[in-house]
Amino acid sequence: MASSAPFPRRTFAIISHPDAGKTTLTEKLLLFGGAIHAAGEVRARGQARRARSDWMKIEQQRGISVTSSVMTFERDGITFNLLDTPGHEDFSEDTYRTLTAVDSAVMVIDAARGIEAQTRKLFEVCRLRNVPIITFVNKVDREGREVFALLDEIADALALDVCPMMWPVGMGGEFEGIYDLARDKLYLPADDATGAYEGRQETVSGLDDAKLESILTERGLGKLREEAELGQAGYAAFDETAYRAGDLTPVYFGSALKDFGVEQLIDALADFAPSPRPQPAEPREVNPDESSVSGFIFKVQANMNPQHRDRIAFMRLCAGRFRRGMKLAQIGTGKTIAVHSPLLFMARDRELADEAFPGDIIGIPNHGTLRVGDTLTEGEELRFTGLPNFAPEILRRIRLADPTKTKQLRNALNDMAEEGIMQVFHPAIGSNWIVGVVGQLQLEVLISRLQAEYKVDAGFEASPWETARWVSAGEPKLLDGFIADHRAAMAEDRDGAPVFMAKDNWELSYVQQRNPELRFAATKDRR
Ligand code: G4P
Repeated sequence: MASSAPFPRRTFAIISHPDAGKTTLTEKLLLFGGAIHAAGEVRARGQARRARSDWMKIEQQRGISVTSSVMTFERDGITFNLLDTPGHEDFSEDTYRTLTAVDSAVMVIDAARGIEAQTRKLFEVCRLRNVPIITFVNKVDREGREVFALLDEIADALALDVCPMMWPVGMGGEFEGIYDLARDKLYLPADDATGAYEGRQETVSGLDDAKLESILTERGLGKLREEAELGQAGYAAFDETAYRAGDLTPVYFGSALKDFGVEQLIDALADFAPSPRPQPAEPREVNPDESSVSGFIFKVQANMNPQHRDRIAFMRLCAGRFRRGMKLAQIGTGKTIAVHSPLLFMARDRELADEAFPGDIIGIPNHGTLRVGDTLTEGEELRFTGLPNFAPEILRRIRLADPTKTKQLRNALNDMAEEGIMQVFHPAIGSNWIVGVVGQLQLEVLISRLQAEYKVDAGFEASPWETARWVSAGEPKLLDGFIADHRAAMAEDRDGAPVFMAKDNWELSYVQQRNPELRFAATKDRR
């Protein structure tokens, strides 16, 4: 049976540091893609998220975050699946894993701030999988850094070739528009006080075109000609192969708030971003045009309904044509799951659709059977690889208020570790579990969910450790020796894999240096 989708797919995520403009840009993408009809629908959610209490409420109710996990829009015959990466202070492994389900990413950078910490972290995850990245330098309507400084920073900080596709004519108070280097077009602000882009544009024959003199100020044009020419000569030319390999990023400038650059960004995704890519799997790579359905779970959301412990598992479809009601094998468990009521995000108004194609995301309601990292197929023994666990950055001992609830606590921790929202470690010495998370807010969510869903009162105590690494060695003897020598700092993860916990990064590198024959991994493949 043919598996080819009626429309090409672009499955992507936006990576950014808080406040760079991800929410605003998401909203504008949906607006220009016709998926929403008024500005403000996404914004309101962004603001609610930023307030912690609201976020917790949302987290408990879950409804909103589920429907916002995937946003789909169509434009010019292409279906765009935008996966939400919850990327504010509530940074978690979830965010990272979402990036394993996309084929490309858009990196949003604030023109005044350049590359920030979270952008860099998320970028590293993209790099692990060679996810191609289009850069969008946002907020050019405000004072920003010099264009050269920004481009150089992207190139240096991320070790990427950069290729400017557009060039802003001034920024902030001097902003006069944006020049499209590939199309020789100038996008201009409306004549009114908004200064927004409302479709006013001029096509010219090149930067030398005398027509530009009547459109831009002498100063603006002078600077544009000088800079853009230098820029074009000094940076890499666009090379689709290098972009797709994750070695080069085309750079767009714009203002999500004022609609500059948004359509060009969608065009760039349409023109350059890859269609669903072959996915790494064992024992063989999976190609999207295979006829048999396969996919992997990259995210699980529990507590859709606290009474029933319902969960939604999000599956990235990697191959085949999925139809509602299909039976899929959960590889490694011998179980078969009949997917009767999949949530498909294809339809504009999210009415249930009946089929999905590679690159699409399917929400599968279940009662805890499906775990992050699971592979589902029509029967073939395959395992998608490369969904990592990340070394936690915060380690805490968990303390029970009521010691008779040990069993409930263990079940709860197990469930939540299964969801992939945190990790549990069993120290070699001592009985208190250690919980590892990537972000502070996860700890709060954990405590609140323990109470609400499992009726377990618990708190955290500082642990002597700050960071952890999975340890392995080619020689089992070496590993055993290391474990024996470091018992006080050793633990096991949920799968029994040995983990070394260090007091700080200094200690970690000291121990690493003294044990060069061992591998200390900051990520662990889930399978
Ligand atoms: P985030 O999701 O990445 O955290 O960023 P978000 O879109 O929420 O934007 C953060 C702030 O930056 C918001 O201002 C937003 O209006 C502003 N912003 C986003 N894009 C642009 C842009 O292109 N130009 C300018 N000048 N500002 C932009 P805020 O004051 O926090 O919120 P609000 O009061 O404006 O709603």
